[in-house]
Amino acid sequence: MCGIIGIVGREPCVPLLVDGLKRLEYRGYDSAGVATVENGLIRRRRAEGRISRLEAKLRDRPIGGTIGIGHTRWATHGIPNEINAHPHITDRVALVHNGIIENFQELKDELLAGGRRFDSDTDTEVVAALLTDHMERGMPLRDAVRATLDRLHGAFALAIVFAGEEELMIGARRGSPLAVGYGDGEMFLGSDALALAPLTRRIGYLEEGDWVVIDRKGATVYDAAGGTVERRIVETAASGAPIGKAGYRHFMLKEIYEQPTAIGDTLQSFFNPAGQTVNLPDLPFDLAAVPRITVAACGTAYYAGLVAKYWLERIARIPVEIDLASELRYREAPMPEGGMMLVVSQSGETADTLAALRYARAQGQHVVSVVNVPESSIARESDVVLPTKAGPEIGVASTKAFTTQLTTLACLAISAAVARGAIDHAREAALSRSIAEVPSRAAEVLAHDDAIRDIAETVAAARDVLYLGRGTAYPIALEGALKLKEISYIHAEGYASGEMKHGPIALIDDSVPVIVVAPSDALFDKTASNTEEVIARGGKVIFLSDRPGIERLGGKATATVELPLVDSFVAPILYALPVQLLAYHAAVIRGTDVDRPRNLAKSVTVE
Ligand code: G6P
Repeated sequence: MCGIIGIVGREPCVPLLVDGLKRLEYRGYDSAGVATVENGLIRRRRAEGRISRLEAKLRDRPIGGTIGIGHTRWATHGIPNEINAHPHITDRVALVHNGIIENFQELKDELLAGGRRFDSDTDTEVVAALLTDHMERGMPLRDAVRATLDRLHGAFALAIVFAGEEELMIGARRGSPLAVGYGDGEMFLGSDALALAPLTRRIGYLEEGDWVVIDRKGATVYDAAGGTVERRIVETAASGAPIGKAGYRHFMLKEIYEQPTAIGDTLQSFFNPAGQTVNLPDLPFDLAAVPRITVAACGTAYYAGLVAKYWLERIARIPVEIDLASELRYREAPMPEGGMMLVVSQSGETADTLAALRYARAQGQHVVSVVNVPESSIARESDVVLPTKAGPEIGVASTKAFTTQLTTLACLAISAAVARGAIDHAREAALSRSIAEVPSRAAEVLAHDDAIRDIAETVAAARDVLYLGRGTAYPIALEGALKLKEISYIHAEGYASGEMKHGPIALIDDSVPVIVVAPSDALFDKTASNTEEVIARGGKVIFLSDRPGIERLGGKATATVELPLVDSFVAPILYALPVQLLAYHAAVIRGTDVDRPRNLAKSVTVE
């Protein structure tokens, strides 16, 4: 969602704010702005669109100051234009906000009735107005902030500076993440450690309901009840090095190509080559005694969870329920005593996923998370974290996070199967070997890039595209369709191939490419029959399979991509790659903004 950065520094802060915003741009990119306090007065520049537009504005009309806040926006209330861009200011305060103020209309009506005027359509401006109102009534600054926070409903993170105060910034966290950076004679606020990493490695995370007063020397953190509290300062693992494209045209392509390494790095935490076994970190509960696992996640991470359901049920014989986090959190689902909640999230900050985690905790579940950001809220609130080692993922469409999630989840499935006595040592060794082969097999798949680019011409020309798969190939079909929608804006649907005859078959004609994800596994014959049904109706089949599969059916397909023949256990990890590449090339052909597709954000910290 929106990205926040704040600096209470010693040198002009605008260049550092802009640099921080660039590192936060993945959180939202429809507009951006900065505000500083210079000679006691609030100064501000904002621009619609990318950070580069803001930079150009700042070049034309620079502002100074050693204290300032910056924001990159993903619109919730009010269209993305300059007037709605943050920071929002009055003559007394400037503030930036991530999240949603749910009662903003009620507050706005009250303030309007009191004669206050508003420029924007945002919920955020109401916070600035309310705070100013309290200050104008003579409330001391900290009391005014406290009184303002007390009136807000919803989820938010805020960073606030004040006219006349060149060494004082206040931050607040309720629902949306906010980190405090500790420098040497300077202090920082940021949405995440990634933004702060070039400025400082020493980070403290605010907890739910905390607010913080910072000056150049340090921070005083208050909890929701108003008492001072200590929050641990950690050395962040996030790198401060600039994240570049390393010669690739887009971050997404670079990240697709990083998968063999990222999967290998992830496996290193779990795979023991000597014993051909997979070892998880010690769990504070007995996996063998877990009556049921509930999986919750959003977007691409949800599809990783769906693959895990198939694995955990088939191999480890554990009943698994899975739901979208946004549904699970309000469904009031009963959960069995001693059950396990498994959350999957790249960012570890997705608001719905975090809420689902908290719901499960309240139901007494053990919480295990698969996350890519080890200091994230979800990681911090889990009993056990199984890390993915994808490294920073900048492209909004998730690629290497997905395949590393699958890798970690595959290791969890093997460990659970061993713990429950569901497989013998020979099977454990075979499964472990198959997962250990994935990095080199993934590199083989990437060698088909040119052929996939050619096939993407057909996809890019289509209005609708269908993806089909069965078993663990079904979530890959769903993920393929999601990737295509996200970055090329072509309508696509993923379907379980057996379900096609109950509806989507009506869509088939020679203008609809049908991408069939078909490793030769136990279900291949079924998928093959469904593919014949598509061909019989004139559909253009793009067939993703291995040598035996292609020998069987490839001749009838419009195009084929031959993937390595592997144990069907790991096939979903490898088959994710061609669907990513297909979406990528289709988007490039259509000329969309691949790394920053319209309307999306990488980390969704609002409901
Ligand atoms: C956003 C991103 C998706 C991602 C989803 C879940 O919608 O654009 O790529 O899959 O959030 O994010 P998470 O960080 O929880 O994996």
